Amino acid sequence: MEEARAYDELRTGFTAAVSHELRTPLARLLSLLESAALPGVDRDALLAQAREQVEEMSELVDDVLFLSELESGREVVALGATRALPVLEEVSGRLADSAERADVTIRIEGEPGAALPLRRRMLQVVAENLVQNAIRYAGPGATLTLSVRPGVLEAGDDGRGVEEDELPRLFERFFRSDRARASRGTGLGLAIVKHVVVSAGGAVEASGGPGRGLRVICSFPAP
Ligand SMILES: Nc1ncnc2c1ncn2[C@@H]1O[C@H](COP(=O)(O)OP(=O)(O)OP(=O)(O)O)[C@@H](O)[C@H]1O
Ligand SMILES: [Mg+2]
Repeated sequence: MEEARAYDELRTGFTAAVSHELRTPLARLLSLLESAALPGVDRDALLAQAREQVEEMSELVDDVLFLSELESGREVVALGATRALPVLEEVSGRLADSAERADVTIRIEGEPGAALPLRRRMLQVVAENLVQNAIRYAGPGATLTLSVRPGVLEAGDDGRGVEEDELPRLFERFFRSDRARASRGTGLGLAIVKHVVVSAGGAVEASGGPGRGLRVICSFPAP
């Protein structure tokens, strides 16, 4: 089992991709530390940037570990059902400050009793990734609407969107649109969302286009 999984990961190039993703912040970290050792530099600023690189690497490692836990089945995804609205409100509350900084408005709507067949923590993971993405990529002035009805969670924003030919690739591990490359992120968020939803028997779908925003629909089978 263990060997088969390791092989499978190698085959999909996962290991190579992770190493590659770690190399960039590591190289930046090294050069920042080298600069910090020079005389007459703003050491505090360089160290603050170095800290950011370390944080980026920790995020990547956390995501990779989480994904591999999901895949090995150690994290039980679908266990009972969770009423979605309170979780969406909690997640959006937690990200309210960074949404405000990005000038992205988050709206939440739906039936108060609507449940999704996910463990609470898994629903948090899904919602957090979708909200974080709108904050990072939708652009200033955009509105993200999270809506829930029985068996369906929808996250639609009216921001920049992505090219139509990129839509099918959004859920691939490490995929990032060209425009996103300048910002922080590793391209694992939507792969995790898909993995969680599919593990619970559901499906994900993305639609939209440049300037028309992005809509991600997670739909689950009826109980
Ligand atoms: N709301 C959105 N609007 C426009 N583009 C988006 C949006 N959400 C995702 N994307 C695009 O999809 C890509 C993949 O998203 P994903 O969440 O998988 O990775 P990431 O945000 O780049 O990194 P991570 O989530 O691992 O930190 C993003 O890099 C971005 O190009
Ligand atoms: Mg993301």
